Amino acid sequence: MIRTVATTPFDGQKPGTSGLRKKVPVFQQPHYVENFVQSVFDSLEGFEGETLVVGGDGRYFNRETIQKVIKMAAAAGFGRVMVGRGGILSTPATSCVIRKHEAFGGIILSASHNPGGPDGDFGIKYNVGNGGPAPEHVTDAIFARSKTIGEYRISDAEDVDLDTPGITRVEDMVVDVIDPVEDYAELMGSLFDFGAIRDLFAGGFTMRFDAMSAVTGPYAKAILEGELGAAAGTVVHGEPLPDFGGHHPDPNLVHAKELYDLLMSDKAPDLGAASDGDGDRNLIIGRGLFVTPSDSLALIAANAHLAPGYKAGIAGIARSMPTSGAADRVAEKLGIKSYETPTGWKFFGNLLDAGLATVCGEESAGTGSNHVREKDGLWAVLMWLNILAVRKQSVAQIVGEHWATYGRNYYTRHDYEEVDSAAADALMADLRGRLDGLAGQMIGGLTVEKADDFAYHDPVDGSVTTKQGVRVFFTDGSRIVYRLSGTGTAGATLRVYIERFEPDASRHALETQGALADLIAISRSLPDIEGRTGRKAPDVIT
Ligand code: G1P
Ligand code: ZN
Repeated sequence: MIRTVATTPFDGQKPGTSGLRKKVPVFQQPHYVENFVQSVFDSLEGFEGETLVVGGDGRYFNRETIQKVIKMAAAAGFGRVMVGRGGILSTPATSCVIRKHEAFGGIILSASHNPGGPDGDFGIKYNVGNGGPAPEHVTDAIFARSKTIGEYRISDAEDVDLDTPGITRVEDMVVDVIDPVEDYAELMGSLFDFGAIRDLFAGGFTMRFDAMSAVTGPYAKAILEGELGAAAGTVVHGEPLPDFGGHHPDPNLVHAKELYDLLMSDKAPDLGAASDGDGDRNLIIGRGLFVTPSDSLALIAANAHLAPGYKAGIAGIARSMPTSGAADRVAEKLGIKSYETPTGWKFFGNLLDAGLATVCGEESAGTGSNHVREKDGLWAVLMWLNILAVRKQSVAQIVGEHWATYGRNYYTRHDYEEVDSAAADALMADLRGRLDGLAGQMIGGLTVEKADDFAYHDPVDGSVTTKQGVRVFFTDGSRIVYRLSGTGTAGATLRVYIERFEPDASRHALETQGALADLIAISRSLPDIEGRTGRKAPDVIT
């Protein structure tokens, strides 16, 4: 039976960079999940009888929420829910399933790389029919609805057995429990030269993939160890755990330190890789060399034609504004366009749908292509394997040749986490207030060429998104960018992105923080980070 339940609005159900993210206890409040899910459904039109894809990264509260979503989808009039077995579907796999089965949309339960468990984070994100995150006009409508909601509708049916594949019903709606890996693995097989990668592994190539006890474990095991013949044990931390084993499932040099240390040791395999909580981020480390995500994007763009799915070449490259300009240099050489978008994958959707861009990426370890509408961790790893298999060189050789050809963009991001929100807002407001006066000023030995607050004009739908980050450009081509995170759940996170282009190949082997030392000092003094936040140094450096 379908029940209508009276409710009152909650404050702050505003989707951020990537869906609604809060601490688990916030989501556990009675009606909290239901209010948000109903606000999503109330903001959509024409889904009667259509398919909704539902899955998550397996974190704490995943299963309970999936049951609610299924029962509410039945009450709302969806015709079918496709849900991953065990409630598991990586974010890119969800995008793949939505597209392949022409679903109306999907609901992804994840807080990505944020920690999980009873005191950890949780999140709900709505994706539209192209498989990508809902665009801003949809997320704005969801937020507006959440402020006025007075009731929601839910079936009082028994819980669905999520562990047994096959078809059941909730009210009139079909529930199809699907293998979470199958469609995704098939798509990967159509894009990459699995034969060449199999030969690579058969020839003794070694790799470690750290799934960080998160969602990619089953995907990596099936594809790398199963289809591609990588040695058993290549995938470590391969079982998704509700609390990710107590770690941050964030594939960066801080949280994937064990992997990094291995790759820097004399026991290093040829390739080290990792993915995050929901499987959309990636980390690529060669023997003795970490590949920055910005460089990885540029390298993938330059070499994509070596993979069968991209052999005709790529149409364009899109990167988020804070991502380094390395990819732009590749676009220039290939004679294709590069696009600079605000942070967050949702801004790539229009470019991909319109065929303007084929490959896109963010400095935050997100890389992907037009094969789905999310960034895709395992895709990036398979692309690297395909490139390594064809070029028959080491990661370090390939990166070295790339820098020699295009120059090197030294790049780092400094994060100041859980800063007092008011202090962070004041810091940004102060910077914004000083933008006009910065040009021409000499700071820390460098001269400011121009400074602005990034605004994006979407070339496809004409929409304009403002206040996307303060950029300070220097006359030597260096750049510092400031923005506040839109994914945090406690206080504010100030992200500072620092970049310098170095064309001279004899200066390509410097240590990054050293090569950027003068800019790093300016990045702190210009907005007086210590005075305003009390922080002498960042919490995380990537
Ligand atoms: C962060 C990253 C951004 C990414 C997002 C979702 O957002 O910076 O590139 O798209 O996570 O994975 P932020 O916290 O900076 O708003
Ligand atoms: Zn993620």
